[in-house]
Amino acid sequence: MERITFLGKTLKNPLVLASGILGNNAGILERVHNAGCGLVTLKSIGPAPRDGHNNPTVVDLGFGMINAVGLPTPGYDRMDAEWQALADRTFPLNASIYGGSVDEFIRVAQFVSEKEPDFIEVNISCPNSDHHGMLFGVDEKAAFAVTNAVKKVISVPLIAKLTPAAPDIGKIAKACEDAGADAICAINTAGPGMVINIEAKMPVLAFKKGGLSGPMIKPVAVRCVYDIYRAVSIPIIGLGGVTTGEDAVEMFMAGATLAGMGSAVRYRGIEVFDQVNRELDDWLTAHHTTRRRLSARPMTGGISRDRQTHPLMIRSAEKPFITMFIPLCSLIYH
Ligand SMILES: Cc1cc2nc3c(=O)[nH]c(=O)nc-3n(C[C@H](O)[C@H](O)[C@H](O)COP(=O)(O)O)c2cc1C
Repeated sequence: MERITFLGKTLKNPLVLASGILGNNAGILERVHNAGCGLVTLKSIGPAPRDGHNNPTVVDLGFGMINAVGLPTPGYDRMDAEWQALADRTFPLNASIYGGSVDEFIRVAQFVSEKEPDFIEVNISCPNSDHHGMLFGVDEKAAFAVTNAVKKVISVPLIAKLTPAAPDIGKIAKACEDAGADAICAINTAGPGMVINIEAKMPVLAFKKGGLSGPMIKPVAVRCVYDIYRAVSIPIIGLGGVTTGEDAVEMFMAGATLAGMGSAVRYRGIEVFDQVNRELDDWLTAHHTTRRRLSARPMTGGISRDRQTHPLMIRSAEKPFITMFIPLCSLIYH
């Protein structure tokens, strides 16, 4: 798989480990990098020690997972051993942070920036105490405020991680771009959902409700990436249900520059990164194309951003043809 320049850093391929999947241990993250992952993301780091929810916190439903881990964190300033080990890393690192208020975000961001990760991912999918528990990521003003505040105190590129709970995710992405975000990561888990064990007559999660991930949310994620692509000019990490090379192709076609994977590690092990790289290469070779041509974005090397030529953007002149062609085909088929 080709190397990629993403926000000024060279990645060995376009695959990203999602936040919260394999923790913050440098040794494990190095193994993931060696297993074929281009960029690894830390579990979101918060402002104060937090235990998270009681078990069961993650349940595999077969077609995806439901989780309510509850953002457990030792707290940004109680991770000396981790920061020390990560300082000697040989792989690109995306540090995910969260806070319950803009001030908390600033405090965590400032500290984490001094540890010199390659990127800081701002998880604005958590409840916002400044706005009575509403998610930062569903309100344009709140998303702008936190992105703007964090951008001012960090010295590495900022990636805003968005939630599909936003009524118009394109508008949230635009607010983040206007506030100085260098890239968007979408999506965080969908829902929340609830699954009941009908024999035990109780929800499968101790917290009862949880975020959905894995194959079942891929169509939501692809739609979000597509909406964001049309709203912003900064690159997008497409995340949500990507499990195979063809899923990654779908993300690139929707407008993503990189493809993230979280639940796929549960389904295919950390070997998933090498496997998806190979599947992606095979697909691109068989279709005589390149990843760059699929996502048609300038950030990864030279192709000018022309929305009209994006594969999913149907030009208005072609619409009458398509609207007639599809019913005609289905008539012939029946
Ligand atoms: C167990 C678990 C823990 C997660 N923890 C975090 C987290 O700390 N921060 C975050 O931004 N996203 C977190 N996520 C969301 C993932 O990073 C990702 O956005 C989501 O799972 C969709 O991707 P996937 O379908 O490939 O898993 C978590 C997901 C799971 C399944």
